[in-house]
Parts: sequence; structure tokens; C-alpha cells
Amino acid sequence: MAGLVFPIEGTSQEIAVNGNDPPPEFFVKESAFGPVGSSPPMIPIPVIDLSLLSSETELEKLRSALTSWGCFQAMGHGISSSFLDKVREAGKEFFSLPMEEKQKCLRAACEGEGFGSDVVVSKQQVLDWCNRLFLMVFPEDKRRLNLWPETPNDFGETLIEYTMKIRSVMDVVFKATARSLKLEEDVFLKHFGEKTVMQARFNYYPPCPRSDMVLGLKPHSDKSGITVLLPDQEVEGLQIFKNNEWSRVPTIPHALIVNLGDQMEIMTNGIMKSPLHRVTTNPEKMRVSVAMLIEPDPEEEIGPADGLVDEERPKLYKTMKNYGHLNYVCFQKGVVAINEVKM
Ligand code: SIN
Ligand code: FE2
Repeated sequence: MAGLVFPIEGTSQEIAVNGNDPPPEFFVKESAFGPVGSSPPMIPIPVIDLSLLSSETELEKLRSALTSWGCFQAMGHGISSSFLDKVREAGKEFFSLPMEEKQKCLRAACEGEGFGSDVVVSKQQVLDWCNRLFLMVFPEDKRRLNLWPETPNDFGETLIEYTMKIRSVMDVVFKATARSLKLEEDVFLKHFGEKTVMQARFNYYPPCPRSDMVLGLKPHSDKSGITVLLPDQEVEGLQIFKNNEWSRVPTIPHALIVNLGDQMEIMTNGIMKSPLHRVTTNPEKMRVSVAMLIEPDPEEEIGPADGLVDEERPKLYKTMKNYGHLNYVCFQKGVVAINEVKM
């Protein structure tokens, strides 16, 4: 098998993994959540048609998906297939640029924004087989446009248009989620106003000759309220951990994958789940996905919604500000962030 070189930004280290050589140990996962090598079953996570959420049947399907899986495949989202392809292609085009070009978008010190791979904080750290371009897209005044790619030349325009379309998807999902729990429609949405933080994360997973040992993204739950994922259309890789085992998520053409992040698990007082997920690598093919992480204003207090706390179901999580930052710090330390805010 041909050798493969995966540069790690920030260290100017170049790693060659050849044929059956074991990969450098800082890429090998020793996870409490099972070995990488196994190929778990492909399980069809629930599919929800967002255009049908005025019907009680679809609403009940949504409630059931979010209480049992914490995620679903969204159809009927109103975004054209050609536009979704354009967004993913913009990411692919950026990642295919020479490294010197990509390095013009090199990360800012602030929570890993810009182009890069894992921030290396210790020798024990296990690295992801992944490059990413992480950009704050909302609120507008928080955009660091100097980190935005100039190639393709309509990258910025496309990303802004995509952001607005995802905001509409977010509105629909939050309103329906509240209704599915018999709550006022705006109970979650009111936390996602003008100061909502939206971050776009373009993920690029190069082919990995030792995909039996190396993960594209280690097991994690998202720091967000919700995350809307535009998966690669040809190469699967996302896996969800449920009932103590991993399941492969199938690709449905032009569906978006919506998953709840920790802040919605907190706001729903644990009734709905922020699923643990990971990404595997492929020995031959690269994979590109685009995750949009949406979280409340960090200055706003987030805690379980009043209507979801009672004598039978006491408050399970503390009310706090700036959960996103706590999650980032915990992620760097390898600690599960949501456990830190349990009562
Ligand atoms: C993520 O968890 O942010 C990325 C998931 C994926 O690439 O499928
Ligand atoms: Fe994630």
C-alpha cells in the first residue's frame, strides 16, 4: 500500500504511515467505548420529515427519536440538494488546496478557530485523523474574516447563505421539540436569539491505511444546543453509541443529521439525550463533512426548563453560563463535560 503523509499543523511534523506498519501511538485510541477495528451494525437512526411536524404522528416520532437516540436524519428541510452539494464542495475545494494556502487560515488562539488539526496539549493525547476548518459564523460581529478562505472565491457567500438556512432548520426543530414535550413553543428557541453562537466546522478525514486502529474523531458529545451535520454523500464514517454499543449511521442522500448537544440535554433535564458519537476512517477514501454547532449566548444562564422539573423528576443539572467553554476545557483534558454540571 502506498505510504501516506498526514501533516500535523502547529508542530510541522509529518507522519508517514506505510502499509501495515503500526501507526504512531499518538493516533491509536484506547477508548473505554470499545475497539476501533470492529465494524458495528448499520442501524437506521430515525428519519423525520421537518415539513410534516404539524402532524401529531411526526411530532411523536421526533420526541421518541430525541429521547432514545438524541439524533435523527432530517428530510423535508427545504434546502436544495444542489446547494448542499455546493457547501460540501466548497469545503472539499478548500482542503484540496496546497498546505501553504490552507495555512493562511491558520487557527487563532481562541478555542481552535481557523484551519488546523487537534490542538496538541500533551504527549499522552490521542490525536484525531482529521483536519478541520472551524469558523464562527454568527453573531456577525464575531466573524474573524481573516481566517476565512479566499478559495473558492464564493466560500464566504456560500457559508453565510448556508448559516441562514440552518437557522431556519434550527427554528423548526426547537419549536417542534418544545411542542413534543407539551411546552410553550419558544421555551428553547428563546435562548437562541440574536446572540446565538453558530460555528461551522468543516471536517476533512484523509484516507488512513490503519483505519482498524485509528479514529477520525474520538468519542465525544457536542457542546452545542444542537448540531446540524451535512455528511459526506459517498463515504460513511459517523457512529453513534447507544445501549452500550456503536452503530454505523447510514447516509441518506441529501438528508441532514440533527443531533442534540449537551446544552439541550441540560435544558430538557435529561429527558432528551446528547448522543456520544465518533468518526471512523476509511483506508482508501477521504471524507468531508460540515457540522454546524449552534449554542446559546455564553452570557446567558442555561439550565433545565421549569416545565421539566418536578417532584418526580428533580433538577438533574446545574444552571450555568458559558457551558461551551467548560466543554472545550474538559475535551482538552479528556473529561466528560456534562458530568461536571450534574447536580
Ligand atoms: C462531528 O462530530 O463534528 C463530525 C461528525 C462527522 O464528521 O460525521
Ligand atoms: Fe460531534
